[in-house]
Amino acid sequence: MTAIDEIKARLDIVDIVSHSVELRKAGKSFSGFCPFHHNTRTPAFAVFPDTGTWRCFGECNEGGDIFSFVMKKEGWDFPTALRELANQAGVELKPLTPQEQERYDEYDRLRELLEAAVTFFRHQLRNTPAGETPLAYLHGRGLSDETIEAFGVGYAPDSWEAATEHFKARGYSEADLIAAGLVSERESGGVYDRFRGRIVLPIRDERGRMCGFGARTLDPEGLPKYLNSPQTEVFDKGKILFGLDRARKAIRAADQVVIVEGYMGVLAPHQHGYTNVIATMGTALTEDHLRLVKRFTRRIVLAMDSDAAGIKATLRGLEVARQTLDREGEIMFDARGLLRHEARLNADIRVSTLPPGMDPDDVVNRDPAEWEKIIAAARPIVTHVMETLAADRDLDDPKAKIEVAAQVLPLIEDAPSPIERDTYRQQLARMLRVDERSLLGMRGARTTPRRGYPPRSPSAAPSSRIIPSSPLDAIHIRETHLLGVLLRRPDLIYHIDRQLQEDGLNRINHQDFQHTDHQVLFRLIQDSLHQGESEPLHFILNHLPETMMPLADAILARTEQVDPQGKDVLEDVLRALLLLRSTGVSQQLDHLRYLQETAQEQGDYLQETAQEQGDVRAREFSHTMVRYVSLLSRLHRAKNRYTNHSLTN
Ligand code: UTP
Ligand code: MN
Repeated sequence: MTAIDEIKARLDIVDIVSHSVELRKAGKSFSGFCPFHHNTRTPAFAVFPDTGTWRCFGECNEGGDIFSFVMKKEGWDFPTALRELANQAGVELKPLTPQEQERYDEYDRLRELLEAAVTFFRHQLRNTPAGETPLAYLHGRGLSDETIEAFGVGYAPDSWEAATEHFKARGYSEADLIAAGLVSERESGGVYDRFRGRIVLPIRDERGRMCGFGARTLDPEGLPKYLNSPQTEVFDKGKILFGLDRARKAIRAADQVVIVEGYMGVLAPHQHGYTNVIATMGTALTEDHLRLVKRFTRRIVLAMDSDAAGIKATLRGLEVARQTLDREGEIMFDARGLLRHEARLNADIRVSTLPPGMDPDDVVNRDPAEWEKIIAAARPIVTHVMETLAADRDLDDPKAKIEVAAQVLPLIEDAPSPIERDTYRQQLARMLRVDERSLLGMRGARTTPRRGYPPRSPSAAPSSRIIPSSPLDAIHIRETHLLGVLLRRPDLIYHIDRQLQEDGLNRINHQDFQHTDHQVLFRLIQDSLHQGESEPLHFILNHLPETMMPLADAILARTEQVDPQGKDVLEDVLRALLLLRSTGVSQQLDHLRYLQETAQEQGDYLQETAQEQGDVRAREFSHTMVRYVSLLSRLHRAKNRYTNHSLTN
C-alpha cells in the first residue's frame, strides 16, 4: 500500500467534508449544499463513503476524492494536500524535521569550531617549522600554493594535545571537541587529538559549511592512509561529496559533474582548470550523493579506477560485493545500486575508466588533454558493465550473447522499479542486437520471488487491518490498470480519443479518474505528449512530486504483465475506461434517484411553498437523470463492442 492509499484508507471522507458542509444521510450516501457554488435551495452535493468520493450535481458538476476536496476548499496544490492529509491521517511521508531544526544552532556551533580548526591547521602548515616537510610533500605532488590555499589544506602537528589545548584555551569544552570529531576519548577519561602528524583537508558541504576533515599520513607505511573525521552531527560521508562547494558553479556551467574516488583526484584537476570534479571519500556513491549532485546537473560521469575488482564482485552478486567491498578506502562499483539510482532520479550516469595504475591526479599532471579525452569517452553503466564483460568475447557469437545477457539480466531484473527494468532490457537488447522478447523469455531463470511484490493474500498483507471496501477496490484497480498501460504508451491517448469520438463520447480526461493522485498522474501523461524535453516516461518521472514516486512504481508493477505493444491493448484500455465511466454514472444515477424521491416525499408532506420547491428540485434532478441515463446507454453500447476481449483484471 502506498502512503496515498493508506491516507485514503485511514481518513473518512464524510468526516473531512463535514468540517465545512452540513451533511445529511441520504441512503448509502450523504448530501448537502455544495460549498463550491452558491445555492441554498438544492442540496446537490453528495458524498459517497463507499468509494471515498464526492460530487456536485449542480452548477459545478464536478467530483473527486478527499484530496480534490481539500485542494478545492483550501486552494492547495496536490503536494500540499498530500502533506496536510498525511499529517491528519498520521501517515509519515518523510522523516520529520522539526526537531532537527531545533538542533541547527548546535550544528552551527560545531561548524564554527571546525572553521577555527581549519585556521589552526593552516597556521601549522604555513607558519611553523613542523609544517615544512608536509608543505614540501604537497609541492612534490604538483600542488601549487594557490591550490593548497584555495582548498584550505593544513597540517595537524604530531602531538597528542596540541589541538585539544588550543581549543580548550579558547573556551571549547571536551564535549564540543568530541562532537566536532576533532578528538578521541581515552578509556581512562579525557581526550586526545584525533589528527596527529597528518596533512588535513577540510571537507565542506555544498554550501561551503565545514563538516569534517580527511587527514593523510606522511609516512608511506602509515595506516590508515587517510584518517577521516568520524561520523558526527555535521559529517556523514554518505551524504557529502568532497569539493562540491568549489565545483558547483562549474558543474552548472558545464552541465556535467565528474566524480572521482579520492581527495587528491579533486585537487589536481581543479588546479588545471577542470573545476567540475568532486569526490566520494572511499565509499560507494549513495542515492543521497546523487540527489545532491542532481541539484546542479543530471549528467554524471564516474571516473573509475581501472581496478575492476568492484565490477567483478558486483557480477558475483551483490551480497558478496557488500561483504567484501564496503570497507574504508575500498573501491566499490555497485552497478545494481547505480542503475537503480539512475532511473529513479532520472539521472544520466556514465562511467569512464582511468588507465591502469593511474589516478586522476596522475593523468592530469601527465597530460590534461588525456583527461578530457577520458571524460568524453564515458559510457552508460549498462554499456560499461556489458563492455567490460564482453571485452574478450565475440558478440556476434550467440553463445557469447547468452552469456552476457545472463550476467547483465540479473542486474536489470533486480532493479526494484519496472521502469528501469523496461528501459534497460531495451538497452541490452539493442546492445546485443537481439529481440527484446527473447530477453523477456530468459527471465524464467529467476527462482527467488521478486522483492517488494509478495503474492496477494489477505492474511499476509501487513496492513490488512485496513481493507478498502470493494467498490473502491474495483475502481482503484481499473484506474491503476489504465494508468499502467498509458504510462508505458502515452500515445494510446490519441487512439482512445479517436475511438471515443467515433462513439460520440467525450475524450479521455482527468475526470475519468476518481482518485486525485491518479488524476495528477494522468495529466502528467497528457503533458508528456506535448513536450520536447525528454522521453515521455522520463518527463513524467521528472515532474512527478517525490511523494508520488511509490505510486508510479506500484502502478507499473501491478501492470507489468500487460504487453503495451500487444494488439489487444487498445480494446483493453477502452474497456477499462468505459467501465470506469459507466460505474461512475450508475453511482451518480442511484444518488439522483434517491434525491428525487426524497424531494418528492418532502413535497408531499410539507406545505405548499415547500411542495413547490420540492417539485422544482425533483424536476431538476429528473432532467439531470435523463442526461445520465442516455450517457449510460451510450457507454454500454460502446463498451459492448469490446466485451469479446478479456480484461486482465
Ligand atoms: P586512495 O588510496 O586511492 O587514495 O583512496 P588517493 O585519493 O589516491 O590518495 P593519494 O593519492 O594516495 O594521496 C581513495 C580515497 O579513499 C578514501 C579517501 O577519500 C581517498 O582519497 N580513503 C582511502 C580513506 O578514507 N581511508 C583510507 O585509508 C584510504
Ligand atoms: Mn592517488
